[in-house]
Amino acid sequence: MSQPLSRRNFLQYVGWGSYALMRDWSRLVQAQAAPSNRPSAPPPFFKPIAPSTEDQLILPDGYRYQLLAVWGDSLGSRGPYGEERVGSDCDFLAYFPIDALQGGRNPNEGLLWINHENCKPLFASGYDGTRRTEEQVIQEKLQVGGTVLHIRREAGRWHVVKPSPYNRRLTALYPEIRLTGPVAERIPVVQGTLANCSGGRSPWWTALSCEENFHWFNRFARDPDDDGYGWQAVPTQAIDETHYGWVVEVDPFGQLPPVKHSALGRFAHENLAWRLGATGRLVCYMGDDSANQYFYKYVSAEPLSSGMTRQEQRRLLERGTLYVADFLRQVWIPLDVRRNRKLQEAGFRTQADVLLETRKAAKAAGATPLDRPEDCEVHPADGSVYLALTNNVLHGNLFGQIIRLVEDNDDAESESFRFEIFLVGGAPSGLACPDNLCFDRRGNLWVACDISHVLLNRWAYRRFGNNGLYVVPTRGESAGDAFQFASGPVEAELTGPWFAEDYSCLFLSVQHPGEGTRSLDNPTSHWPHGGRDIPRSAVVVIDGFPAGW
Ligand code: FEO
Ligand code: CA
Ligand code: CA
Ligand code: CA
Repeated sequence: MSQPLSRRNFLQYVGWGSYALMRDWSRLVQAQAAPSNRPSAPPPFFKPIAPSTEDQLILPDGYRYQLLAVWGDSLGSRGPYGEERVGSDCDFLAYFPIDALQGGRNPNEGLLWINHENCKPLFASGYDGTRRTEEQVIQEKLQVGGTVLHIRREAGRWHVVKPSPYNRRLTALYPEIRLTGPVAERIPVVQGTLANCSGGRSPWWTALSCEENFHWFNRFARDPDDDGYGWQAVPTQAIDETHYGWVVEVDPFGQLPPVKHSALGRFAHENLAWRLGATGRLVCYMGDDSANQYFYKYVSAEPLSSGMTRQEQRRLLERGTLYVADFLRQVWIPLDVRRNRKLQEAGFRTQADVLLETRKAAKAAGATPLDRPEDCEVHPADGSVYLALTNNVLHGNLFGQIIRLVEDNDDAESESFRFEIFLVGGAPSGLACPDNLCFDRRGNLWVACDISHVLLNRWAYRRFGNNGLYVVPTRGESAGDAFQFASGPVEAELTGPWFAEDYSCLFLSVQHPGEGTRSLDNPTSHWPHGGRDIPRSAVVVIDGFPAGW
C-alpha cells in the first residue's frame, strides 16, 4: 500500500525537522507560510467541505450523522449515586466487538468506551464562580471519567442497548482503583479517575484511558476563560493529585478490575499508541500535552504471547522501561534510576520517585521539550509513529506540526530513531493545531484539530473557521495536504475518531460546544438539541462511506 520514504527525502526532512525542533519553530512556520503549488487531489471517497462558523456538525455531501450518546442520557443502569448517565466532554472512543473475547469481530454489536475529559462547572452543577458547595463538586465528579456503552446496529441504525449488564460509569468518585507497578508499594489504592483525554485499545481488549490535566481540578480559575475548578475549596472533596496523571486500564467486559499502571509514568497523559517490537515486547508511545513537555515510550520487560491469559497480558504494563525522547541526538533516554546517572545526580533514589515526578525526571535526563505533544498513532503499513504537536503560541508556533518518527532497524524496541516533519500547520497544509489522530484502512491520517476557543475564528485563526476533522493522505502527491471532512459546532472540538471494525462508519466525539459560555441565559451554542437548550457534548456515528472505500 505504501512506499517507504526515499533516502534523499528522508535526510532532507530529518535536517529540516532537527532545525525546527531545536532552533526556532517560528522561523520554520514563517518560511512555510505560503500554500504549496504541488498538485493535490482529495481522497476519492468524499468532496471536502469549506471551513464554517455555523453552530452545526457539518459533513460532506452523502454523509450523515446520528446522535448515539448525549451528555446526560440515561444508561439504564444504577450506581452508588443513583441513575447512571453519559458523562460530559466526550473524548477518546474505542469499539470492542461483543464477541472479541471469543475471537470474533462483530461489526454490528459491541461495547463503546467513552472518555469524559472535563466538565464545565456552570453547566454541570450551576457553579457560577462564587460560593462552592459539596453538592456541586460531587455533581462535577460524576461527569468525568468514562462510560461503557453497549451498542447495536439494526437496519443500518445504531442504538444503545438498555438495560444491559455492560452499561456503567467510572467517575472521579469510583471507590477504589488499584495501582500497579513500582509506585504501588507507596500508593496501593486511589479514588476514581478524571481528566480522561485520549487513549488506546490494548491487544487484550481493554481500554487504556489517559488522565491528562488532573491539576486543573483542585485549583481555582484565575479568570472566566481559565480552567480551574476550585474543588479544594470543599476540603472533604479536595483530590490527592498523586492519584491522577496515570494510564488507567478498564475492561469493558467487566472481567478484570480497573487499574492504574504506574510503570508508564505520571504526567498529563494525552494518549497511548502501541506496537510490538522485534522480540514481541509491547511498546507504548505517549505524549505529555503541555508546552515544553516530552514524548515517551514504554517497553515491556516480557514479550506478548497469545498463550497468556488476559490477566497475564495486562501485567506487561507493570514491569518494563520508560524512555523519553531526545530529538537532538535522536535517542530514547531510559528513565531508569539504576541505569541513568543523571537521575541519580538529580536526587532520584527509587523508580517510584521517578514515576511520581516523571516530568522532573525527563527534564533532568535531558529530554527535548516539545510544543504540546498530543495524540500519536502508529501507521498501519510501515509502523512509523505520527505525533501531533498542537502549538506553542508563546514560541510563535501558532499552528502546530505533525512529526513522523521512524525507529532504527524498524524495531519499536530500538533505543534510537530518526524523524521528519510530516505536516506543518497553517496555510501549507490547510489545518491548524492538530490534536487527535487515527488512520483509516488506506493509511490516510485523520486529524481532529483543537484551536482553543479564545483563539477560534479570531486573528490568524480566522481562516480555519470552527474546529474541524481533516483527512491527510500519507503517500502520493497529496501526502501532507489536509482535506476537511467535518466542521464542529461553535467552540467545540471534535475528538476521539474511531472507525468501526469494518470501516463502514466512524464514531466521533463532539466535545465542549459552547465552551466560552459565561451565563446560562445566553449559551454561545445550543448544539445538538437547539432551541434554548444548553450545549451538550455527544458521541455521534457517521455513515455514508462508499462500500470498500
Ligand atoms: Fe485533552 Fe491534550 O487534549
Ligand atoms: Ca486531545
Ligand atoms: Ca488517536
Ligand atoms: Ca487539545
